[in-house]
Amino acid sequence: MYEHYLTIKHVHQASAALSLSLFVLRGIWMLGWPHKLRAVWVRVVPHLIDTVLLVSAVLLAWMLQQYPFVHGWITAKVIALLIYIGLGTVALKRGPTRGIRFGAWLAAILVFLYIGVVAFTKQVIPI
Ligand code: HEM
Repeated sequence: MYEHYLTIKHVHQASAALSLSLFVLRGIWMLGWPHKLRAVWVRVVPHLIDTVLLVSAVLLAWMLQQYPFVHGWITAKVIALLIYIGLGTVALKRGPTRGIRFGAWLAAILVFLYIGVVAFTKQVIPI
């Protein structure tokens, strides 16, 4: 299993990049072309990618023996991911006005970038 660590890390990084790209695209569609969000692939593919992202995350954390609520940077990633999911739902579904959805979309992108920076620095407050 450990011999596959780097492969799994690359899968994790690639699914993170794809996940963010699709979220940015869906936000742009939400603002200008909301009918595009109803396409079947748009509703299915992001969930598949996010599943790969999370499964690879769990495998990496398990192999590194770094656990949420034990190690700060993993805890920060998990909490930020929950905030990202909440903001993402407001941005693409629940936001009552365009302004609120746009604000939630921008905030979600920033939170996602924060997760990436925490991944590289292993610091809760990366400087
Ligand atoms: C909460 C769920 C997540 C957990 C538990 C988790 C865990 C991990 C672990 C253990 C590593 C390996 C670190 C290393 O080998 O140095 C890693 C790497 C990475 N993660 Fe996550 N991750 C999660 C979510 C995410 C998300 C949502 C992103 C998107 C920004 C992300 C981006 C990255 C990146 C870019 C790396 C590579 C860092 C490097 O090369 O040093 N992770 N993650």
